[in-house]
Amino acid sequence: MRIRGCIFDLDGVIVDTAKYHYLAWKRLSDQLGIIFTEEDNERLKGVSRMDSLDIILEIGKCKLSDTQKHEYATLKNNWYVDYISRMTPDDILPGCVEFINELRKAGLLIAIGSASKNTPLILRRIGIGNMFDAVADGNIVKKAKPDPEVFIKAADLLGVEPERCVVFEDAIAGVQAAINAGMFCIGVGSPEILTKASYVISGLHEMNLKKLKSIEKKNLL
Ligand code: BG6
Ligand code: MG
Repeated sequence: MRIRGCIFDLDGVIVDTAKYHYLAWKRLSDQLGIIFTEEDNERLKGVSRMDSLDIILEIGKCKLSDTQKHEYATLKNNWYVDYISRMTPDDILPGCVEFINELRKAGLLIAIGSASKNTPLILRRIGIGNMFDAVADGNIVKKAKPDPEVFIKAADLLGVEPERCVVFEDAIAGVQAAINAGMFCIGVGSPEILTKASYVISGLHEMNLKKLKSIEKKNLL
């Protein structure tokens, strides 16, 4: 196999945290008098915290100073942290542990590549931090997806060349970030939305090493 490193986005691939982000952003939007729907929430997937707030303010045609923006982002994050602090290993999405274990047994290196600054907390709550050889997250990168920084950083930490990494991503911005990093990308979600991914699965329960090898063969040779 040419692939040596597997990089997993966290939110939407390993855990379904979009619902908690939505509840916290919704609470903030209500407070600001902005109508924010679940459909709007789709636009926030993979997008950094401050960029997400900017999108909501744009929806509500609302202008705030940088200080106010930081205050509101912190408020939203405190509510979000309340939700994720109650997560347990039962919140890991189906097939994830089995697939990663299979990859590890085959000697592949595994990393997280997430925009979230809450990555360490989530990994602690769901108890699978030790399955990853490296974690690149919102705490160590400056540029948000679709910038490739987080995936390049993950590959660097693994010591694997970007072109020998595969990324698992559920967000359009994340798929683009993987492509910008020169990596092969498997979309997790719907093929109608993740049109730029090389292959799309509905969840990691659909993945195994044999399938990865055959997808790699079709796409890379
Ligand atoms: C991404 C989520 O993984 O992390 C986004 O898909 C979120 O919705 C981003 O805005 C930043 O997360 P956090 O936890 O740092 O606010
Ligand atoms: Mg995601």
